[in-house]
Amino acid sequence: MRAVQISEHGGPEVMEVVDVPAPEAGPDQLLVDVATVGVNYRDVYERNGSYGGGLPAIIGVEGAGAVAGTGERVAWVSAPATYAEQVAVDSDRAVPVPEGLSDEVAAAALLQGITAHYLATSTHEVRDGENVLIHAAAGGVGLLLTQIVTMRGGRVIATTSTDEKAELAREAGAAEVIGYDGFTERVKELTAGIGADVVYDGVGAATFDESLASLCPRGEMVLFGAASGKVPPFDPMRLEHGGSLYLTRPGIRHYSATREELLDRARDVFTWIAEGALRIRIGGRYPLEEARRAHEDLEARRTTGKLVLLP
Ligand SMILES: NC(=O)c1ccc[n+]([C@@H]2O[C@H](COP(=O)([O-])OP(=O)(O)OC[C@H]3O[C@@H](n4cnc5c(N)ncnc54)[C@H](OP(=O)(O)O)[C@@H]3O)[C@@H](O)[C@H]2O)c1
Repeated sequence: MRAVQISEHGGPEVMEVVDVPAPEAGPDQLLVDVATVGVNYRDVYERNGSYGGGLPAIIGVEGAGAVAGTGERVAWVSAPATYAEQVAVDSDRAVPVPEGLSDEVAAAALLQGITAHYLATSTHEVRDGENVLIHAAAGGVGLLLTQIVTMRGGRVIATTSTDEKAELAREAGAAEVIGYDGFTERVKELTAGIGADVVYDGVGAATFDESLASLCPRGEMVLFGAASGKVPPFDPMRLEHGGSLYLTRPGIRHYSATREELLDRARDVFTWIAEGALRIRIGGRYPLEEARRAHEDLEARRTTGKLVLLP
């Protein structure tokens, strides 16, 4: 089968399309013919070595497709080696795809949808009227998080880097869209000098300090990614100085640890899509051979919404 493999860590150029033997499903696994691969920023960290990991490796963890032999349609967010034509998925991590939902939308929605779901409902339970700062609001997680926070009555202040992205954030429900330059000041202005109740920051190094400064006293800083690089070591006294702030660094695996929690969140995401309450924007479709270009576009901030690969 064809797969996207890395033999060393580095830039997009280390990704090569190779012919490798198809995986064999273990006793508690399903062998799946991959219809759509979901591209996530975490794939960049896996490729560039931020996650460590043995080599050579086939990258990617998210997709949707049909179980070989039975045709049952499933999606997944945590099956290693998903940038491929076939993948072995742990049975207890396979999410059934409801009738009426395409493989493409399932693969586009699941990882970023579950992430946005847990961030807005569990990491911080967004309440009616709260001021919520969301960075990169036109990105994959950003567009979904903006919609879910808005659904819960939160007032979204969004950052984006271009006018086109600003328009998408507005369409997703953002009440205010601002640029990154001096965003703390803008957030203070937009919240009568008080600051945001919560900041969702997947950008990391470039925004972290200003994100903390944008919070109201006892506000919550949710650092959930590092698209611009890792946040350096941090003195906890800064939280006291900032107004007895909370800081958390959540990861999807701890918010979908049991099968029950995984399926509960997936059910909400799929139901909202079916009802038209959550819109999925596929910002780019690439053949498997062009995975490199997908990563280049993602890292150059040229993308909006979700990118998928079609094996
Ligand atoms: N912890 C978790 O459970 C979890 C799960 C899923 C994703 N994440 C994290 O969530 C973040 C978003 O992931 P995603 O897959 O949805 O990606 P994405 O948001 O679609 O793409 C990244 C976006 O970040 C913004 N950005 C700002 N500075 C950047 C820089 N220096 N380089 C690249 N991008 C920059 C860009 O938007 P602008 O041009 O508008 O700034 C860019 O489009 C990532 O940090 C990812 O690791 C975390």
